[in-house]
Amino acid sequence: MQTKTNCIVRKEQYDPKELNLHETLFCNANGYIGVRGTLEEGVPADFPTMRGQYLAGAYEIIPMKQAESLCNLVEKKQTMLNICDTQTIRLSVSGEDFLPAEGGTEEAERILNMSEGYTERRTRWISPSGREIDVRIRRMAHFRVKELFTIDYEVTALNFSGEAVFDSFHIPEVENYSDPNDPRLADESPCFLKLEKQGFREEASFSVTRTKESGVSIAAVTNHRCFSEAKPYSMVREEGEALITRLRIPVRKGERIRVIKYAAFSDSIREKDPLAKAVKVVHDAMERDIDELYEDQKSYLGSFYSRSHMEIKGDKELEDAVSFNMYELLQAAPHDAFAGIAAKGLSGEGYEGHYFWDTEMYVVPFFLMTEPKLAENILSFRYATLQRARENAALLGHRRGALYPWRTITGVECSGYFPSGTAAYHINGAIAYAVTQYYYATSDKDFLIKMGLEILIETARLWLDTGVYDRKGRFQIQEVTGPDEYTCMVNNNYYTNASARYNLSSAAKLYEEFRDEPEIQRLAERLGFSEDEKEEMREAAEKMYLPYDEEYGINPQDDSFLDKPVWDLKATPKEDFPLLLHYHPLHLYRFQVCKQADTVLSHFLFPKLQSRETMEKSFRYYERITTHDSSLSTCVFSMTASMLGLKKEALLYFGDSAKLDLMNRHENTKDGVHTANMGGCYMAIVNGFAGIRITEHGLSIDPFLPEGLTGYSFPFTFRGRRLKLTVEKDTAALKLLSGEAFDFRFREENGRLEEEGLWTHRL
Ligand code: BGC
Repeated sequence: MQTKTNCIVRKEQYDPKELNLHETLFCNANGYIGVRGTLEEGVPADFPTMRGQYLAGAYEIIPMKQAESLCNLVEKKQTMLNICDTQTIRLSVSGEDFLPAEGGTEEAERILNMSEGYTERRTRWISPSGREIDVRIRRMAHFRVKELFTIDYEVTALNFSGEAVFDSFHIPEVENYSDPNDPRLADESPCFLKLEKQGFREEASFSVTRTKESGVSIAAVTNHRCFSEAKPYSMVREEGEALITRLRIPVRKGERIRVIKYAAFSDSIREKDPLAKAVKVVHDAMERDIDELYEDQKSYLGSFYSRSHMEIKGDKELEDAVSFNMYELLQAAPHDAFAGIAAKGLSGEGYEGHYFWDTEMYVVPFFLMTEPKLAENILSFRYATLQRARENAALLGHRRGALYPWRTITGVECSGYFPSGTAAYHINGAIAYAVTQYYYATSDKDFLIKMGLEILIETARLWLDTGVYDRKGRFQIQEVTGPDEYTCMVNNNYYTNASARYNLSSAAKLYEEFRDEPEIQRLAERLGFSEDEKEEMREAAEKMYLPYDEEYGINPQDDSFLDKPVWDLKATPKEDFPLLLHYHPLHLYRFQVCKQADTVLSHFLFPKLQSRETMEKSFRYYERITTHDSSLSTCVFSMTASMLGLKKEALLYFGDSAKLDLMNRHENTKDGVHTANMGGCYMAIVNGFAGIRITEHGLSIDPFLPEGLTGYSFPFTFRGRRLKLTVEKDTAALKLLSGEAFDFRFREENGRLEEEGLWTHRL
């Protein structure tokens, strides 16, 4: 892997095994649009490709096959849409088709420029008859003009004069991707969007399509601008289902010609008249100079990096990997409350575009520290779907409270296999944790009063309705699944109980803090929430049963976990990983073997619940039986190792997490990036190495420098202030860049930063 400043550069070898990986790594997204980095000209028929364009929150409802129709099982699910194909552009030079995947490529590389917000393909190609061209194609999903996607196509005729012909396509009806052999993908690939209208208005192509069940309409518009010495001849035509714009341009030897394709997309979830919106976006964009659009993109990113850029000294490759992860998170982040963050962001169809607990537990912390407004959007989406969570709880037999769906697009449960889906009640804990953290990190009282407290109360109520007091007076939670999906439907999953405890006490505590506010009084009345119920929450939290095993001195993952035989990981053939693709789930459930961090994550989140010794023993114990088959795992092992002072392990696990997608470690990055891990990688630095914690008492830091690095530094925000932490070999320095003076904790000491002050400490 070759790297440049804030760029990811890869050679393009047109290797079918690598191509769909590149489609993911060079995807352009802006939180609304996602366009995979497929080749404009298409690929040979035997090359695998996921030729996708997506819009955040756009979905269809399809039947969920259940083998037996047991009561209240999920019978319909939502799935993301491949909205259309506007990325196909076929080029021919003097009658020869530019098909580099079929040969003739002298040099080809792909670049993701994360400072300027575009991807670029550079190819030098020689046609079968010896015509040589240089092709540069730049793509951008604009961060400020959310609906806009551009392809800026330049061709230089290096050794001939002749003609370049561009056939630029707009295909309104396309299929979703599927793989019936992988449970992490859809198993069939219909075309969900049906054509309502299409055509050309003057030179611009347009289409409106609509889903059958969900009734979501999508509008797409494209138009072109050409730059060449000779006047291009342009012609539009409809061929089958495609709208094709043909541009014929005479070209002279040495001349560079340029075609810019503007595409805009809009949907009926957000717009009354999506077509009018898309028409306007293309029109307005074409009125501007493209360089102005590029500058705007760069300035957006400049401001993002001023709040987030992570410097890692002593390992440039690692720094670029971290940058890439942060950039992907930004590409995935929704800018309104109509969508959440999918497990793969907008970069692919893995997990069908569903949102999981990944968002709140792994991704929200990144935005809390860098762009709190985006964290608020994410949580507002959960607020917008609270009523559906209540309905979900009722379907499961609960008489009070809300249960957020394990996987969803609009707030309705979409998981087909409830033992490792709906039963993962800990998603409620993750959302409640994120709401509480959001409040402590921003002091945004308004959000808490208008949305946050209602989420906290309704999620806490669910625990009251689920749990029971045992004969010893301990509050137990039975028949749930924790984060580790190789162990399902258990009693007292330590992680779930610990996060339920946090949820219950946070609801009670924050209600007390705000109960005199008229809006909260009205809320309590509307919810029928009383002081008695608040006390019930406090008591359940206090009496929450947290399993502990005297003999091993650790927290067992659940009541029966330690009684199961230990899976022999050393004797398991390499090709049997991930285990989920090779063993029946029931078989896995009968062993002590973990897919991902479970108890280890709860130690990191709730360290006050156990002694350091117990947590270290737990860490060591689970380390031996965890496969990390889930990408949500190594980052957590890294941050927990940091917290426990296990510096070597912290760095080792971090390395694994940081390059997970760039190195395609899970061999499925082709289906989309792993956004949870990307957020987890950020947390492994900020909350792990730097030991930053935010609680009701404020900010505390406890940093160390991992061996092999010479330093690291990053800006972050805390309660309206902007700060920068720099850690070097012997010192840690915290600078208050803007905002009011405040007190913080450094390890066991108190610190104070005056306005624009600098605080340093020897390590
Ligand atoms: C993990 C879950 C995660 C999901 C989506 C699964 O493999 O076990 O914890 O929420 O992937 O990323």
